[in-house]
Amino acid sequence: IDPRLDLFAEIERLKRELNAVILAHYYQDPDIQDVADYIGDSLGLSRQAAATDARVIVFAGVHFMAETAKILNPTKQVLLPDLAAGCSLSDNCPSDRFAEFLRAYPGHIVISYINCSAAVKALSDIICTSANAVAIVNQIPKDQPIVFAPDRNLGRYVMAQSGREMVLWPGTCIVHETFSERKLIALKVRHPDAEVIAHPECEPAVLRHADFVGSTTALLKYAGTSDRRAFIVVTEAGILHQMQKAHPDKLFIPAPPEADCACNECPFMRLNTLEKLYLCMRDRTPEVTLDEATRLRALTPIERMLAMSP
Ligand code: 13P
Ligand code: SF4
Repeated sequence: IDPRLDLFAEIERLKRELNAVILAHYYQDPDIQDVADYIGDSLGLSRQAAATDARVIVFAGVHFMAETAKILNPTKQVLLPDLAAGCSLSDNCPSDRFAEFLRAYPGHIVISYINCSAAVKALSDIICTSANAVAIVNQIPKDQPIVFAPDRNLGRYVMAQSGREMVLWPGTCIVHETFSERKLIALKVRHPDAEVIAHPECEPAVLRHADFVGSTTALLKYAGTSDRRAFIVVTEAGILHQMQKAHPDKLFIPAPPEADCACNECPFMRLNTLEKLYLCMRDRTPEVTLDEATRLRALTPIERMLAMSP
């Protein structure tokens, strides 16, 4: 790329030329968030993808998110800046192993977190996100056994909130599992007035210190409604950009991972860069594609989620 190119202006131009909408997750680089038409959590992004009348969806997020947009929009082109932007939850729940796992639980309803492949969605009855998981499980009749996959931490959190037992697939998010309870307690001592706000993908030992637990959108909203001035934020650090932008008068402290590393940044989300976003729009590739049989089977549980979501 010519270093003199104004990428922000070029992306705006391409957006008009392609009749494209840019959907971005909160864990994207701040630059990407700033060129997006919509920034949201997985539920908000799915709803936007279902509603858009743009011809091209440029998805600044990870593969399962772009794939969900494609499942909802088979005739639209869905571009993803880097096709390698995966997710540890999705990658560690391959559909063949999941199908085998499910054979041990006949008669169970299968609720899968949206962080999974289209092939796993196709094996599921209902999809959920961190924003609606508790509400969806609460709508399932009490005597109906449930398999919940692939995030065991979200699963445990939902079990605690709903009082339901569920069979859990043993997956975790490599970002949220690195937050350290020990360091979090030390940080709380230094900031006794700060509220701890955390994503439900965190380990139970971390979540038990949280004053509020929710999806990325819920955490952002909570930071606005709470009258506290300081927050320890236990999720991927990209969300701090919108928190700081919306509430410049408040203090947002990223929670520390156990090791001294940038582990509170998702290595998959961060594969997308402003340059790659520009290039994928200029070249109209890489594109997310799906075989129609899988798409149709994955669509039903997503549609159920959208209908059951508060
Ligand atoms: P939400 O933005 O839906 O809370 O999900 C977080 C996440 O890990 C996305 O990969
Ligand atoms: Fe997956 Fe975790 Fe990255 Fe979200 S933060 S995309 S759950 S690896």
